[in-house]
Amino acid sequence: MNLTLEDIQAREARHILQTYRRQPVAFIRGSGARLYDTAGREYLDFISGIGVTSLGHAHPTLAAAIAEQAATLLHTSNLYYHPYQAEAASRLAQLSGLPRAFFCNSGTEAVEACLKFARRYWYTQGAKERTRFVALAGGFSGRTFGSLSVTHDEHYRAPFAPLLEGVTFVDPDDPAALEAAVTDRTAAIIAEPIQGEGGIRPLSARFAAALTEACTRTGTLLIADEVQSGLGRTGHPFYAPVLGLRPDLISVGKALGGGVPVGAALVSERVAQAISAGDHGSTYGGNLLGTRAAVVFLTELMDRGLLDHVKTVGVHCERRVRALALKHPVIVEVRGVGLMRGLQLSLDATPFVDEARTRGLLVNRTDEKVVRLLPPLTIEQADIDRAVDLLDAVFAAVAAEVRA
Ligand SMILES: Cc1ncc(COP(=O)(O)O)c(C=O)c1O
Repeated sequence: MNLTLEDIQAREARHILQTYRRQPVAFIRGSGARLYDTAGREYLDFISGIGVTSLGHAHPTLAAAIAEQAATLLHTSNLYYHPYQAEAASRLAQLSGLPRAFFCNSGTEAVEACLKFARRYWYTQGAKERTRFVALAGGFSGRTFGSLSVTHDEHYRAPFAPLLEGVTFVDPDDPAALEAAVTDRTAAIIAEPIQGEGGIRPLSARFAAALTEACTRTGTLLIADEVQSGLGRTGHPFYAPVLGLRPDLISVGKALGGGVPVGAALVSERVAQAISAGDHGSTYGGNLLGTRAAVVFLTELMDRGLLDHVKTVGVHCERRVRALALKHPVIVEVRGVGLMRGLQLSLDATPFVDEARTRGLLVNRTDEKVVRLLPPLTIEQADIDRAVDLLDAVFAAVAAEVRA
C-alpha cells in the first residue's frame, strides 16, 4: 500500500473509533532505533511503542523466529501443549524468583489476572471477606474494568463508574495512610515500583519499607505491576527487588514480546497452590507466536548481554540528561532509572514533544509536564548522545518561543 499520511488520516477519520489523539505521522518501516514515515523521513525512536519494541525494530533474530513460527504453527489454544510456554515461563521464573506464569496478551490482562489470583488465594483460604485492594495515587494499571479500578486518574475512571468495589487509593508519599488503609480485609496491594504513566516516579525507600511492613502485619499479598518497569528496562530484571520488595505476584507485558502482544502474571508458589483448573483462561494467551517471541527476547536479555548493556548505557543516559537539566531551567527534575527516564518540566510538555518530532526525535508526554524517554533496550550510546543533542536544541528553541 502506497498511501500518504493524508490518505490514512482521512480513512481513519471515517472508520476508526476516535479513542486516540494521534500525532500527525504514519510509520511504515523500522530498523533498530530508527523509524521511517510514509514520506521516507527518518526518526530516532526514544519511546519504542511505549516501552514495547525492546529489541528495536526489525531485530533479525526476532524477525526470523516470528517468520519461522508463522510458517510452522501459530496457534493451537490452551486445550493442548506446545513447547514455548514452559520455556518462556522457566526463564521468567529465573528472572523473577516467582515459579509460575499465566500467559495473556497485554499488560491490562496481566493485571486482571493478578487481581483475580489474589482474590482466589483468600477465597481458597476460607477468608472470603478479604476482597479489597489498596492501590496508589498516580498509579496506572490499564483500562479494562479490574485494572481501571486500581488506576487512579479520575479522567479515565469517571465515565465508566461503577468500577470494582473496595479499592482504596493511598498517596505514595504517605506511609501512615498506607498503614491505615491495609487491613485484614485487604486481599492485595498493587503498586508500580516506578510509576510510568504517572510521570516516571520511583517509590521511595521509606514507602517501600511501609509496603513490606503492611503486608507482613496483615498477610496482604503484594502485586508489583512491572508492565513498564520490568524485564530489564531499569538495568535490573525487575525493580521491586531493588526497593527491597518481595511481591507475591508480578504483572509483565510490553517488552516481553518485543512488539508481539504477550503479557504474563507471575505467581508465587503459595498463590499458585490456591488456583484450580478453570479459574482463569484465555483463548490466545500463551500462543506459539507470542511465547516464542518472549523466548527470543528473554534469551537476548539473559544470555546475550542485553541486561548488562542497559546497565551501562543507562548510566550514560542519566549523566547526559542530568547535564541537560542543568542547562535548561524548564527541566525542574530528572527521574527514573536505566532506560526509563522522565524530565519533569515547569510547563506542559506538548510543544517540546512536537518540536522533537519535527526534528526527527520521538519522545512522549506523560502526566502533562513530563517528557518521557523509553528507548529500545538495545539503544547504543551514540544514539543516546544524538537524542540528547536533539533535546538540547528542542529545549533551546521552545524556551525561546515561550519567552518571545
Ligand atoms: C504499569 C502498567 N500497567 C499496565 C499497563 C497496561 O498495559 P496494556 O496497555 O498493554 O494493556 C500499562 C500500560 O501503559 C502500564 O504502564
